[in-house]
Amino acid sequence: MAISRRKVCCSFLSDVFLTYSTVKVVQVPNTLIAIVYRLIQLIIFAYIALYIVWLKQGYQQFQEPRGTSIIKVKGIAKVAGNETIRFVHADQTHLWDTAEYQMPPLENNAFFITTRQIVTYDQTEGDCPSALEDKLFCNSSESDVCPAGQPTPNTFGYFTGNCVPTFENASINVCEIHAWCPEELSQSTQFIMNKDDMENFTIYLKTMVTFTLFNINLRNVRDATNFTCRYHKDNDPHCPILRIGDILDSLNTNKSALLREGGLIEIRQDWTCNFDFHKDYCFPKLEFNVLQSGDDKLSPGINYRSAQKYRINGTEYRTLSKIYGLRFIVAISGKGGKFDIVNLFVAIGSGIGFMVIADIVCDAIFMYIHKYRERYRQGKINVCVISSDEENSDGNLTSILAMQKE
Ligand SMILES: *[C@@H]1O[C@H](CO)[C@@H](O)[C@H](O)[C@H]1NC(C)=O
Ligand SMILES: *[C@@H]1O[C@H](CO)[C@@H](O)[C@H](O)[C@H]1NC(C)=O
Ligand SMILES: *[C@@H]1O[C@H](CO)[C@@H](O)[C@H](O)[C@H]1NC(C)=O
Ligand SMILES: *[C@@H]1O[C@H](CO)[C@@H](O)[C@H](O)[C@H]1NC(C)=O
Ligand SMILES: *[C@@H]1O[C@H](CO)[C@@H](O)[C@H](O)[C@H]1NC(C)=O
Ligand SMILES: *[C@@H]1O[C@H](CO)[C@@H](O)[C@H](O)[C@H]1NC(C)=O
Ligand SMILES: *[C@@H]1O[C@H](CO)[C@@H](O)[C@H](O)[C@H]1NC(C)=O
Repeated sequence: MAISRRKVCCSFLSDVFLTYSTVKVVQVPNTLIAIVYRLIQLIIFAYIALYIVWLKQGYQQFQEPRGTSIIKVKGIAKVAGNETIRFVHADQTHLWDTAEYQMPPLENNAFFITTRQIVTYDQTEGDCPSALEDKLFCNSSESDVCPAGQPTPNTFGYFTGNCVPTFENASINVCEIHAWCPEELSQSTQFIMNKDDMENFTIYLKTMVTFTLFNINLRNVRDATNFTCRYHKDNDPHCPILRIGDILDSLNTNKSALLREGGLIEIRQDWTCNFDFHKDYCFPKLEFNVLQSGDDKLSPGINYRSAQKYRINGTEYRTLSKIYGLRFIVAISGKGGKFDIVNLFVAIGSGIGFMVIADIVCDAIFMYIHKYRERYRQGKINVCVISSDEENSDGNLTSILAMQKE
């Protein structure tokens, strides 16, 4: 038994490893099907060549750019103090230059322009009545309305537990608070930047990107850049100097609400480059988007507070500013592509896989639809009948399987 098993084993191995096998081809001389077959092949070939390789640039290797922008804002604006709210000092007009409205002065890929500011001067830590607008009304007879030691709902201070007349109207009593006094809502000055001056501001956008895969560094400012230019979508798309008014006009948003409440604007720089050509042909395309507008129903605009402190005769004072404005974010996107032989073969290879479709379709027609399908089946399919008494004869696969089971 052992000897015959080894013999069978060797013949099986030589069948598998030392024999070349190929596929038998069945030829059917049928013009119509042949044309269908070639047509499908042609369509698939066109798909590979035109769509995958040419249009989708399957012959290229891609990388996204990495980069950063430095932005400088230029312009001067008249600013009006507005008397309508809680206004104490009679205020004349001011002017704001870059140092006043660009806060913070230097950021990567972003900048902020103040459009409106509510300033509370000379605050000191102490006790004062809360603002009328806080609506913390009380009666001196009741004590539980102003719980001493608890923070106020707007978190500007702590209740002292007392009930005092407001600054605004001596006949109305409100809770007294321990806070930075006077409170912003009871005594502050509002400054609003002139809208037309603001629209004439320019920003200088200086971007450097790098494609490490291709060892390419690029800047949007080149030797040929003319610094008297102004960016225009069609007339001067390569200019690095943009007018704020042009950006705001291209946005589909309520501009007066945007300037009043502030907002978030995205400047998207799209570096889509084909480095099969010279890298100097590659310039970014700009797109503008409002991410946060000034007239959203819930939580419109953007604002923040900051304080500057000073000391007089040992007393700590501060000037509190609530700042509204436009925040611009520069987003760098895109991709650079360059010819790569590996990517080309991968693209072609994945396309060639589709060629099987032609065989499947034509086979299906012959097997199930064509009127001579029976003849085709006879020609294509060989049925191999194995009777049960053949099972134990030496040298064929069924016997080996049977023996291995023993
Ligand atoms: C102050 O604000 C009111 C309403 O918000 C407006 O009608 C008025 O023109 C403003 N005044 C100044 C000096 O900006
Ligand atoms: C304060 O007390 C007076 C008289 O007792 C009352 O008419 C008034 O409604 C009270 N106000 C508040 C805010 O409780
Ligand atoms: C003060 O408040 C009283 C009562 O609410 C009101 O009648 C009066 O007109 C107010 N005075 C001022 C100057 O607003
Ligand atoms: C904005 O700039 C243009 C061109 O430089 C000028 O004609 C216009 O008067 C300026 N507008 C304001 C409000 O300064
Ligand atoms: C820049 O452009 C302006 C007009 O757009 C032109 O007058 C000026 O000569 C240009 N400067 C250079 C250095 O090309
Ligand atoms: C734009 O916003 C302003 C102020 O918020 C508002 O008065 C005006 O009606 C708005 N305009 C439109 C077209 O919504
Ligand atoms: C600081 O204190 C001195 C002495 O008490 C006083 O003469 C001076 O006016 C004070 N200065 C200010 C700014 O309050």
